[in-house]
Amino acid sequence: MLIKKPEDFYPSEITPESVYLDRRKFIASGSGVVAASAFGWMPGFSGSAFAANASVNIWQQKMAGSLSKVKPGDFSTNEDKTPLEDILQYNNFYEFGTGKSDPSKNAGKLEIHPWTVKVDGECDKPGNYALEDLVKDSQLEERIYRLRCVEAWSMVIPWVGIPLASLIKKFQPNSNAKYLAFETLYRPEQMPGQKSPFSGIDWPYREGLRIDEAMHPLTIAAVGLYGQTLPNQNGAPIRLVVPWKYGFKSIKSIVRISFVEKMPHTTWSDLAPQEYGFYANVNPNVDHPRWSQKRERRLPGGFLGPKRIDTQMFNGYADQVASLYSGMDLKKYY
Ligand code: MTE
Repeated sequence: MLIKKPEDFYPSEITPESVYLDRRKFIASGSGVVAASAFGWMPGFSGSAFAANASVNIWQQKMAGSLSKVKPGDFSTNEDKTPLEDILQYNNFYEFGTGKSDPSKNAGKLEIHPWTVKVDGECDKPGNYALEDLVKDSQLEERIYRLRCVEAWSMVIPWVGIPLASLIKKFQPNSNAKYLAFETLYRPEQMPGQKSPFSGIDWPYREGLRIDEAMHPLTIAAVGLYGQTLPNQNGAPIRLVVPWKYGFKSIKSIVRISFVEKMPHTTWSDLAPQEYGFYANVNPNVDHPRWSQKRERRLPGGFLGPKRIDTQMFNGYADQVASLYSGMDLKKYY
């Protein structure tokens, strides 16, 4: 994103096919188990042998009951799902470094249990909520969504999550609550990117939504993917997923949700307002100042190179969300 010089941008986004092929061979062989333990996660496996740290293991055990009762949710796409190894190893999570492979290398030390979400601002039930209490009363759903990054790559990810609207109702926002502001954990001793001078980010990472966007049935608080707890590099233990918006809106490892009256400051639009707007709706008709948004690279590529497809308005969710923006000039409110 911002911190890359334009000339660095495209090469860094194109993962050579040989890397994917080598990775598949590696994971198919016995050494995949070693790799999985470094990621702190592996579907079909739970227990200390595969936990990056004890907290991941405890969290997996706490979540086992809820994960065994996941129901298929509405709105899932039947497009081919991105293979797990790509979802695990090609990430944006600047708290762990700016390279795509940094999060999978560095996120294993992040302790994700206990985890508290602070809820404050314009609501009748503010407080410090233990994440397990929020999850245990909620029906988890699988939502297979497209994820479109502003950098013009995309994936299809089978998330497990809770409709955000059902969490919001618990907190009882009042009539002054026009927006939600979210914050990621700030813990430099476990998140090396927060110590680095290179990101330019004023930590913690912040994001926000209008309240009607947050309440929309497509918006989820994800706690898992591929049927298991969220891997650390994908935003454990809880992240936002807003599938019609560029991926940077889907903030990871959330520790604070505030109900506010005014549009909140957000990380990328504070850093580069000309490039990253508050709305950040996927829109093939509004280019990023430095590259086109008309097409995207669906990961992983094939034998013949990157798989390029047309980007759809609102990432293909226009039927569900276009009415949220009726009357708005989407070139101005990008
Ligand atoms: N959340 C935090 N806290 N830090 C980040 O750097 N990157 C965003 C988003 N959420 C980011 C974040 C961006 S740019 C994208 S594209 C998605 O996470 C990537 O999610 P994934 O790595 O799980 O695919």
